[in-house]
Amino acid sequence: MTTSSSSAAEKILKKEIWKRVVIFLLVSFIFFFIMYLTQHQNNKYILKTLELEGSEKVGDSLFKTNCVGCHGITARGLVGPDLHSITNRMDDKQIINQVIGGQTPPMPSFEIDPQNMSNLLKYLHSLE
Ligand code: HEC
Repeated sequence: MTTSSSSAAEKILKKEIWKRVVIFLLVSFIFFFIMYLTQHQNNKYILKTLELEGSEKVGDSLFKTNCVGCHGITARGLVGPDLHSITNRMDDKQIINQVIGGQTPPMPSFEIDPQNMSNLLKYLHSLE
């Protein structure tokens, strides 16, 4: 009697453990899948940006509308750092991630299409 009741309890416990393992695996799978998709989208965006030819002039005006509040009208720095010779300190991929990433508050993440990102890059490259 004792044995059979303990084995019934064991069965319930095993079922409970399995349930948790399955839930854990499912949640991890969904998490990594979303991470993979985000990363994939991000890489596609960067590759697209890098293959486009940017316009320094358009980049300049984009900078004036979006970035001067923090980086200064001549990009010499204000709240944000001086961006002159930034392209010697960061590669294009890092700059793109800086602009779209929102990883360093208070700098926001910008939703900018690849062509305009390419224009901005061209402008940043012109800052000696
Ligand atoms: C709300 C203020 C703000 C705005 C708007 C802003 N930035 Fe920034 N930016 C910052 C701050 C602050 C940092 C420094 C972040 C850190 O490293 O902690 C920064 C850092 C950077 C860096 C890295 C500089 C370095 O030396 O590490 C780049 C490149 C940059 N910003 C480009 C831009 C561009 C391009 C725009 C416009 C599309 C822009 N930022 C708009 C505040 C801003």
